[in-house]
Amino acid sequence: MRVLIIGARGMLGTDLLKEWDTDELIPAGSRDADIRVPEQVHSLLAGTRPDWTVLTAAYTDVDGSEGNPENAFAVNASGTENVARAVKEVGSRLFFVPLVLVFQRKFFVPPRHGQNSQLSPISWDLPPSHATWRG
Ligand SMILES: NC(=O)c1ccc[n+]([C@@H]2O[C@H](COP(=O)([O-])OP(=O)(O)OC[C@H]3O[C@@H](n4cnc5c(N)ncnc54)[C@H](OP(=O)(O)O)[C@@H]3O)[C@@H](O)[C@H]2O)c1
Repeated sequence: MRVLIIGARGMLGTDLLKEWDTDELIPAGSRDADIRVPEQVHSLLAGTRPDWTVLTAAYTDVDGSEGNPENAFAVNASGTENVARAVKEVGSRLFFVPLVLVFQRKFFVPPRHGQNSQLSPISWDLPPSHATWRG
């Protein structure tokens, strides 16, 4: 199986490349495709034709996101959408590692959220003292 890992130079991507040895992995970083740019993402997918695409690329700088929400949205929302669309166009499948911050969480507990759970970004709804920052 061919698996494209977008975000391969990040913390999670690096670990996946280190531990995952049963399939053909294709690492990709922002120099290969900026996920904010649909054409770059499509070229990457069309050029590599993976069976599966693992998306670990994200803008993870929480303080930076507070100061520049437009960029955080461009990478984490629009970028994810760009990848999802390209994945569909080339007939790949997407494994997406999400942010936990879209769910309101007052205590640090393992996520128990399902596909239809209500979203409530804590960084927008609650003062910082109520927020649990991770991932
Ligand atoms: N690490 C954890 O403990 C943890 C826990 C829960 C959830 N997660 C989630 O897992 C995902 C990855 O986390 P991480 O810790 O591996 O993050 P990370 O170390 O910050 O890596 C993120 C990667 O995203 C890439 N990236 C950023 N902007 C990009 C863009 N515009 N186009 C293409 N690539 C871009 C960067 O690629 P380049 O280096 O090539 O520039 C970077 O290597 C995040 O969604 C995070 O919320 C992580």
